[in-house]
Amino acid sequence: KKLPPTIIFIFGGSGDLTKRKLIPALYNLYLDHFMPEKYIVVGIGRSPVSDEDYRSKLLEGMEEFSRRKDHNGKSWPAFAENVFYQSRDLESDESYKGIYEYIEQQGKTWGVQPNVMFYLSVAPQLAPVIATKLAQHKICDDTQHTRIVFEKPFGHDLQSAKELNKLLDSLFKEEQIYRIDHYLGKETVQNILAFRFANALFEPIWNNHYIDHIQITAAETIGVEDRGGYYDQSGALRDMVQNHVLQLLCMIAMEPPTSFDSNEIRNKKVDVLSAIRRINVEDVHENAVRGQYAAGWQKGKEVPGYREEKGVEPDSPVETFVAAKFFVDNWRWKNVPFYIRTGKRLHEKTTLVTIQFKEAPHYSFPAEAADTWRPNRLTFSIQPQMDIRIRFQAKRPGTEMVLTPVDMVFNYAEAYEEQEPEAYETLLEDVIEGNQTLFMRADQVEAAWEVITPILEAWHKRAPVDFANYSPDSWGPEDAEALIARDGHFWANLP
Ligand code: BG6
Repeated sequence: KKLPPTIIFIFGGSGDLTKRKLIPALYNLYLDHFMPEKYIVVGIGRSPVSDEDYRSKLLEGMEEFSRRKDHNGKSWPAFAENVFYQSRDLESDESYKGIYEYIEQQGKTWGVQPNVMFYLSVAPQLAPVIATKLAQHKICDDTQHTRIVFEKPFGHDLQSAKELNKLLDSLFKEEQIYRIDHYLGKETVQNILAFRFANALFEPIWNNHYIDHIQITAAETIGVEDRGGYYDQSGALRDMVQNHVLQLLCMIAMEPPTSFDSNEIRNKKVDVLSAIRRINVEDVHENAVRGQYAAGWQKGKEVPGYREEKGVEPDSPVETFVAAKFFVDNWRWKNVPFYIRTGKRLHEKTTLVTIQFKEAPHYSFPAEAADTWRPNRLTFSIQPQMDIRIRFQAKRPGTEMVLTPVDMVFNYAEAYEEQEPEAYETLLEDVIEGNQTLFMRADQVEAAWEVITPILEAWHKRAPVDFANYSPDSWGPEDAEALIARDGHFWANLP
């Protein structure tokens, strides 16, 4: 594909995300010949650093985090010679004049109007400042050629998200705005759509007549690491549920799109978010559980409790675990519970979506024939294991009729030789190409905030009394088990 010459400005160029994800992603795109023939990447940061020093720091990042390395010692230098660093004060007008001139100049050198991407990987309070200045200095007036990418968090609550959207709407066209949710770039997440809508096999049973309930688990083993300062203002509900988990839910619950048009897909997702039943603030305790990890042991290592982490208040009421039950009030999903859970310092790093189908309507086998352990189940293992599996009952070989559940598995690593791209590769490529399908539209973000607002309110009103309430290396607080056990189910872990 021939892509127009492109300049990528990364605000927060000396930050962690740039080193771990963005530069390695661009480097891999380069290796795959997905970068435009002519491109420049400019990292913008505060402290003065030379291009050389900047590249060496990024090289370390590439060596540690990139999917592919530089085996012949040639491809990284070739990629990195187009990477530069600029030290700029993001609040001063001078900086934006400088950026404007830089783009003009580069356009003259290339002899064409370049595409320009601004990637905002900065503290949330800086995003509106940068956006406003970019607009004031008329840097994004050419709506065809300029795109602005926003990292999460997108707002702190419904109110602030609305204000931010309103501001952006006054400065740019929605077609220029790319709100990232990196889960949408994951191969296995995108494959949910292929699985559902490129096959006619499952869609007829994808509804309340055949599906008993759905579970979404996004479990991590890490704690908050060095992000305590950010996390203590956020918590698991804002950090994971408002975005990643609800987006997974949308992929599972959405109606078939009529085309792969970005707005069509996003419309269908917004429909799901709007149909999620709003929990009354008074009923939140029946539908949502919060947890916070205590100090303890994880995989043979002693780890601090959340309240002892750097940047976290010693009596912090912030949750590091959430479990909740949602309903999607429409024809397809009437009375089908969606159980979700996510947390840090859990037993396993795993993201799973489980579709539990209803039991066979009439069981013709003698009761003792069956080990009925959860057949009729479809599981999407999103990560780190990547597969789709169907668990069903089968007859065990032998003279007796004995049934056991078996798995039919589609495994990515076995099915494909090529390695799958990282989420950020896919997403950055989409921005370069101008495809917004996998990005959050303003109304999508707001609808997701609306879903969690009652929970935020209820938890804000009443401080948790039992924190810390789960040990590292566990599956979260006991209440989370109770939440699902009350309905006669239990959480599905990796098969
Ligand atoms: C981020 C959250 O959006 O997603 C982090 O801010 C979390 O707290 C991360 O660790 C999880 O992403 P992944 O891709 O490792 O599942």
